[in-house]
Amino acid sequence: MSAAILSGPPAAQALLDEARDRAARLPHRPELHVVRLGEDPASVSYVSLKERKALEVGLGSTVHALPDTTTQPELLALIERLNADPAVSGLLVQLPLPAHIGSGAVLEAISPEKDVDGFHPVNVGRLWTGDAALPPCTPAGVVALLDYYRVPIAGRWAVIVGRSTIVGKPLAALLLARDATVTIAHSRTQGLASLTRQADLLVVAVGKAHLITPEMVRPGAVVVDVGVNRVGLSKSGKARLAGDVHPDVAEVAAALTPVPGGVGPMTVAQLIMNTVLAAERLQA
Ligand code: GUN
Repeated sequence: MSAAILSGPPAAQALLDEARDRAARLPHRPELHVVRLGEDPASVSYVSLKERKALEVGLGSTVHALPDTTTQPELLALIERLNADPAVSGLLVQLPLPAHIGSGAVLEAISPEKDVDGFHPVNVGRLWTGDAALPPCTPAGVVALLDYYRVPIAGRWAVIVGRSTIVGKPLAALLLARDATVTIAHSRTQGLASLTRQADLLVVAVGKAHLITPEMVRPGAVVVDVGVNRVGLSKSGKARLAGDVHPDVAEVAAALTPVPGGVGPMTVAQLIMNTVLAAERLQA
């Protein structure tokens, strides 16, 4: 058997198209504001991608690029100003922050109604009570990808490998809300292979290249690979990327997301959708 490839770009485009349509029906253009401190190349590149996608679907986008010497009180003052500005629909502070700034305090300062990352403790709580207004982007993007390819979720046994605050734990809440039976496994789980072999739906978000090998997967399972690991350089000097799932899993699984080009594009598309969701609520 060779797995169907659940390619991210068409699913991401469908989400972006929906965001564009919904934004066009609002009385005011949704505005995404991104705060970035310092010039870390990865952060600069992620933030410019977010801005490009926002502009592509007709949203406004403002990047507040501050020096990495910005103090915590200065950053909190900016967040307060953007919280109070009715023209700002969505607000995020790009992570990681310099060591002299407490990210917890910063994330809690963002208005939960504008928190398009879904990282505020109020939004984390709402996710578990089932009133998720703004779900975190990567796990919500995984669910959107499964929906796009009509992968059934209700009643299936989902095994999530990885318990991070931004992927594993919130994804468990989202799949539970969709009536999956959910198990979370992690680095201290004993007998990982016997658990992963039970999964109808296996989602891996650990950050360990090729952790999941074919014998760990039930024939016919759907496998979602959230891992992005740099594994050396290609001949042209570009970083070579590998997922958490070994490519040979394609011989066993019914469907598999590729790396790159699987879950990755869904994260930014969901961020754009979250900005529209925030604007819809704020303008209602
Ligand atoms: N840095 C890497 N990924 C993310 C993300 O999803 N949100 C924010 N705010 N920072 C990040």
